Amino acid sequence: MTQNGGSISDSGDLETRLAEFRRQAGEVSDRPGWERLRLEWLGRKKGVVRQLLSRVGEVPAEKRRDYGRLVNELKQTVEARLEDLDGELATQERAAERLAATVDVTLPGRLPRLGSTHPVNLVVREIAEIFSPLGYSVAEGPEVEDDFHNFEALNFPVDHPARDEQDTFFLADGRLLRTHTSPVQIRTMLERREPPIRVLCPGRVYRNDNDLRHSPVFHQVEALAVDRGITLGDLKGTLETFIKRLFSPDTGVRFRPSYFPFTEPSAEVDITCPFCDGEGCKVCSGTGWMEILGSGMVNPRVLAGCGIDPKVYSGFAFGLGVDRVAMIRYGIPNIRLLFESDERLLRQVTGR
Ligand code: DAH
Repeated sequence: MTQNGGSISDSGDLETRLAEFRRQAGEVSDRPGWERLRLEWLGRKKGVVRQLLSRVGEVPAEKRRDYGRLVNELKQTVEARLEDLDGELATQERAAERLAATVDVTLPGRLPRLGSTHPVNLVVREIAEIFSPLGYSVAEGPEVEDDFHNFEALNFPVDHPARDEQDTFFLADGRLLRTHTSPVQIRTMLERREPPIRVLCPGRVYRNDNDLRHSPVFHQVEALAVDRGITLGDLKGTLETFIKRLFSPDTGVRFRPSYFPFTEPSAEVDITCPFCDGEGCKVCSGTGWMEILGSGMVNPRVLAGCGIDPKVYSGFAFGLGVDRVAMIRYGIPNIRLLFESDERLLRQVTGR
C-alpha cells in the first residue's frame, strides 16, 4: 500500500503518501504500533522515505531539486509526527504505571500465613492438660541417651533378650538414640530422690522399625508416680480416667498381663477400637481392641537403683504411643504422614 504507483516525480504522489502516513499515524494506539509505523516510514533500508530518496535518479533533472525538497519535507513531517506520538504514548504509559501502582486502601488486607501446631503436639498438649490438675509436671530428657539410663537402670541387663525389641541407632561413643521415654523416669528419680514424684515425660524416641504403623522416629508420653502406698488400683483408676477423657467416656479399657523389665507386675492396655467401637474391623484386625500403652508397678529394683527405698515407697508408670493416638484422633492412615511436613495434613487437622 505504500509502494509507489504512478510517477514518483509527481508531487501529487507525495501528497498521497503523506495522507497515507497521517491515516496510519491516527491508528497508532500503543508502543508496538508506533514502532511498526516508524520502521515502515523511517527504516534505514526499506523505509518509505529511504526508498523515495534512493529513487531521486529516476526523476527528470529539472525536477530533482523540487523532488528532493518535497521528500525532505515529507521526512520532517513524518519525524515530527512520530515524535509527537512518542510523547503522547509516554504520557499514556506513565499514567498507566501510576494507576497500576496505586494502593486501593479499601481492599481487605492480606493475612500472613500462620503456622499451626503439629497433631502430635496437639495430643501431647491435651494429655498434659488432663494430668496437670492431678499434680503432674512435665519433665524432659535427652534424645541421645547412654546405655545406663535407657537400659541398665531400667533393669535391662546387658544381653537380656528384652533389649532385642528395642533395637536402635548407636553412636560411635556407645551412646544411642533413646528407644523410649522411660529413661526420663530414671533421670527424674535420680535428681529428686525424695518422693512424692509425679511427672509426665513427652518426647521423641527412636527404633529400628519401619512400616505403616511404625516409624524409626516416633513419640511417647511417659508417666511416673512414686509415693507411699501407691497400688495397682491407683494405676488402673488413673489410666481408666485418663483414657476416657482422652477418647470418650464409653471407651472400653482392658488390662493384659505383660512383661517389662522395669515394672512388676506389668500390663499392656488396650482400648475398644475407636474405628468400629469394638465390633472388629480392618484397623484392629477384627479383634475390636487396640493396644495403646504399656504400664506397670515400678520394679523395686529400679527404685532401689535410683536411691528410693522400695520398702517405703512404691510407684506406677506407663508409656503411651502419641503418634498412634494422633492417627486415631485425626483419621491419619499412615504414621509416616506425620513426619513428611506436608502442609495439607496440618491444615486438615487444624481446619485452616
Ligand atoms: N517403655 C515401654 C516401651 O517403650 C513402654 C512402657 C511400658 C513404659 C511400661 C512404662 C511402663 O513406663 O511402665 O515399650
